[in-house]
Amino acid sequence: MQVDTLILGAGAAGMMCAAHAGGRVLVVDHAKAPGEKIRISGGGRCNFTNMHCAPHAFLSANPHFCKSALAGYTQWDFIDLIDQHGIAWHEKTLGQLFCDDSARQIVEMLTGLIRKAGAELWLKTEIAQVAQTPEGFTARLIRDGDTVTVKARNLVLATGGKSIPKMGATGLAYDLARQFGLPVTETRPALVPFTFPDGRFAALAGVSQPVRTTTQDGTSFDEALLFTHRGLSGPAILQSSSYWREGEEITVNLTPTPLLETLRTQRQSGGRHALKTELARHLPARLAEYLATELSLSGNLADQSDKALAALCTQLENWSLRPSGTEGYRTAEVTLGGIDTSALSSKTMAAKTLPGLYVIGEAVDVTGWLGGYNFQWAWSSAMAAAKSI
Ligand code: FDA
Repeated sequence: MQVDTLILGAGAAGMMCAAHAGGRVLVVDHAKAPGEKIRISGGGRCNFTNMHCAPHAFLSANPHFCKSALAGYTQWDFIDLIDQHGIAWHEKTLGQLFCDDSARQIVEMLTGLIRKAGAELWLKTEIAQVAQTPEGFTARLIRDGDTVTVKARNLVLATGGKSIPKMGATGLAYDLARQFGLPVTETRPALVPFTFPDGRFAALAGVSQPVRTTTQDGTSFDEALLFTHRGLSGPAILQSSSYWREGEEITVNLTPTPLLETLRTQRQSGGRHALKTELARHLPARLAEYLATELSLSGNLADQSDKALAALCTQLENWSLRPSGTEGYRTAEVTLGGIDTSALSSKTMAAKTLPGLYVIGEAVDVTGWLGGYNFQWAWSSAMAAAKSI
C-alpha cells in the first residue's frame, strides 16, 4: 500500500496532523481506540488548552524551540475549531479550558475531521518495523494478524512519551528517532506526585492546602498541595516535579498570605487557646495538628513572644522537604525530555537531516506546565507539520 503520509500514533498530535495534512494519509495506532489520553484527561472533560499559553510555560533544552509552532497555531485557533464544532467549554481556573460535557467530544471532533479529510485510521495495528527507502519510508504493520507493508513519502512520529504504559505508552518514537540518527535527550517522568519514605504524610492523606512551592532552581507555583498516603500531590506539586531532580529539596510555603500580623491580632482576642487551635483557623485542622508535633509547638498563643511568632511564620513559609522520589511513569502525566529539538525545524517539525521525517507532540523535547499546555503543544506542533506536509 502506498500513501503520501504515514502517521504513527493516533493520539492528540497524530489525529490533529492526520486531519490537516492533506493528500493520502494513513494514521495507525496499537490501541483499540484513538485519543485515549484525551478521553481520560481533565477528569473526563479534557483541559484542552490554556488561555495564557505562551512559551514561558514550556520546558525544553531549547526554550525558544516551541515559539514558532505555538505562534503558528494558537490556543485561540483551537478554541475557534471547537466552537465551529459546537463544543461548549468553560474556564475552570488559571486560564484552563475544559469541555462542559465530555472529553469524548474532542476525540469525536478529531475522528470526524480525519474522516472528512479522507484520511484512514487503523487501530489495533502493531508497528513491526520502519525503514528508510530512496523514495521515503516503508513500514511493516501487523493488522488483524496480517502483515501489511506501507510505503510513504512522509513519516510522522506521533507516538507520544512513556507516561502511563498501562494506557499503551511506549518509547517507540525515541527508538525510531535513534534509528534515524536523531539524538534523544534524557527522559524523566514529569507532572508526577512525589513519594516520601515511611508513610510520612499518611495521617494527612486527603488534606489539601493552597501553597507556594519552590524548587531549587527558584521556580515557584501558587496552587493547591494534596497530601497522599505515599507522599505529596496536587497541582503545585505536579508542576514542581518538572523542575525537581533526585536528591533535591523543595520548599513549601504553607501560608502564601503572610500570617504574622493576623496571629498577633488573634493573640489579643483568642490568646488563651492552644497555638495549634489558633493555627487551625488558617490551616486544615489535621495539618495544624501534624505541624504542632513536627515543629514542637506547645502552649497557648498568648505564651508566644513576637519573636517566637515570627520564627513560627518563617517555618511555615519555608517548609523544606526532600522527596525520596516520584511515582514514576505509572502516574506521570507527561514525559520530560525527548527527541532533541536541535535535530528538528521549529517551523515544520521536520528532521533537519532526513527529508520527509517529522516528529510532533510529546515525543519532542518540549513539555508544558499542567493546565492544558501539553495538549496545546500537541495541536500546535501537529499543525506546524501538517502545513509543511
Ligand atoms: P499521545 O500519548 O496522546 O498519543 C500517542 C499515541 O501513540 C497513543 O494513541 C498510543 O496508543 C500510540 N502509541 C504509542 N506507542 C505505540 C506503538 N508502539 N505502536 C503503536 N501506537 C503507539 N494534557 C493537557 O494539556 N491537559 C490535560 O487535561 C491533560 N490531562 C492528562 C491526564 C492524564 C492522566 C495523562 C496521562 C496526561 C494528560 N495530559 C494532559 C497530557 C496529554 O495527554 C499529552 O501531553 C498528550 O496526549 C500528548 O499527545 P501525543 O499525541 O503526543 O501523545
